[in-house]
Amino acid sequence: MSSNAFAETFKMAIGDAAGGTQWELATKFSEIMKDKTSGKVNIDLFPNGQLGNEQDTVNDAAIGLLDFSVLAINNVTPFSPTVGVLTMPYLIQSADEAKLLTQGPIGKELVDNTVRDAGVRIVGWAYSGFRVLTNSKRPVKTPADLKGMVIRVPRNEIMIASYQAWGVNPTPMAWSETFTALQQGVVDGQDNPYTTVYAMKFNEVQKYVTNIRYIFSLEPLIVSESVFKQQTPEMQKNILEAGQEATAYSFTYLQKTESSIRKDLQEKGMVFVDPDNNEKEWIDAVKADVWPKFYKSIGGQDKFDHVLKALGRE
Ligand code: MLT
Repeated sequence: MSSNAFAETFKMAIGDAAGGTQWELATKFSEIMKDKTSGKVNIDLFPNGQLGNEQDTVNDAAIGLLDFSVLAINNVTPFSPTVGVLTMPYLIQSADEAKLLTQGPIGKELVDNTVRDAGVRIVGWAYSGFRVLTNSKRPVKTPADLKGMVIRVPRNEIMIASYQAWGVNPTPMAWSETFTALQQGVVDGQDNPYTTVYAMKFNEVQKYVTNIRYIFSLEPLIVSESVFKQQTPEMQKNILEAGQEATAYSFTYLQKTESSIRKDLQEKGMVFVDPDNNEKEWIDAVKADVWPKFYKSIGGQDKFDHVLKALGRE
């Protein structure tokens, strides 16, 4: 156990099973920390929600019970509403845009806001790809095809509102309960990137994939701000640098592996479909209904316009 100024062993929670982008970020970060400290720092990794569901790990880190956690950004938003901008549907349209927002001045401001609002500091990012929709029932090409299906979403207001705009009343559920709920047919579908579907073996309980691109999944590595503050300046520097290096690695990892993971899922029997009409119905519904609802929580429409401008869109 750690959580004191002289700790050399830290605990890191990981929401997903070993093998995905969260795991890659976590293992790279801990290797770099070990190197930088000549083996003095060890980070024990606890994948697959062993230390609690992703949202609970934010609380635990905020009060210093946990040192690090890797989790999806949508599970940070309830504690730090301005990071919700990163889950505004159809805002981020490519991995490069995700990189630009997280590594530029906007990302820096979101890091500061999260320290202030949630008591945790984002020190690295896993880039996980677009969240695609999976289900066990039938091919889905339009929002209307979702009729009658029970879809799990994280407890995240923006994502709940997105499904409502598509005509579905989704079921908010913790990540750690999702596999079992899919397996038992309590829910029919969910959305997450290919890499996560693969790491979590969702192909065993889901058949159809719809290649929507509504949210580019970003998965921060957070450190408890109280634990961070207890570290020496040198250790703080190590943590920040290791986070940056692991982030760069994560970006490359996604580029290298995403298409082979997708192919593997197909070979394991998943059926991929593209949304009809270049995704127009999906996009139009959320832009009209969801964006305006959340301007306030992400810091105002001006802030949102500023982000659009940073992405070269007015
Ligand atoms: C969620 O759907 O709750 C998360 O995106 C899962 C994850 O962290 O991979």
